[in-house]
Amino acid sequence: MVRVSVDPYSVINETIAKLNSGGLLLVSMGLSGVPNVMTIGWGLIGRMWREPFFLVAVRKSRYTHKLLEERGEFTVNVPGDGMDKVLEYCGTYSGRDHDKFKELSLTAMPSYKVSVPYIAQCPIHYECRVSFKVDVTPGSLEKVIEESIYPSGNYHTLYFGRILGVYVEESFASRI
Ligand SMILES: Cc1cc2nc3c(=O)[nH]c(=O)nc-3n(C[C@H](O)[C@H](O)[C@H](O)COP(=O)(O)O)c2cc1C
Repeated sequence: MVRVSVDPYSVINETIAKLNSGGLLLVSMGLSGVPNVMTIGWGLIGRMWREPFFLVAVRKSRYTHKLLEERGEFTVNVPGDGMDKVLEYCGTYSGRDHDKFKELSLTAMPSYKVSVPYIAQCPIHYECRVSFKVDVTPGSLEKVIEESIYPSGNYHTLYFGRILGVYVEESFASRI
């Protein structure tokens, strides 16, 4: 299905709404060329270094972390209604021992600007390249947050993904 390129900030409301209820789907792909998908519930969209950015926070324990380190590109996919089971599965099982695309019959489509695919079943997707990354480190975060989020370590890396393109299904474009 044809996708339409849209302004990077034009679907921000839809994206944040899903981030707040159920999550988004982050696709990465290492050097092996097999894509992996995980659910994310935290992230930021904004402007840095004169460019639009999507920041994602990935704990070092995730298989996705390894894949992002291998190939600094990712797509963020905004699920449509009725994809709750997909979000649950991708937020529970690891790509280390599951091919989540295959198990969930998700379709990996070639992206327009990055080498990591997007998910055909998601009506909106962002294509991003990591421009900058920084580890959350012990003692660097407001204490009350650090104690509640990292009681046993397993800190996040914050990946600043420069948004190279945002695409929506043609039927969705008429609603923007
Ligand atoms: C709603 C939801 C939101 C999540 N958000 C994040 C997140 O922002 N960052 C993160 O590292 N893990 C997050 N997780 C956990 C990962 O999705 C989960 O550990 C997943 O199995 C990792 O897959 P992977 O090992 O294939 O990368 C979330 C899980 C759920 C259910």
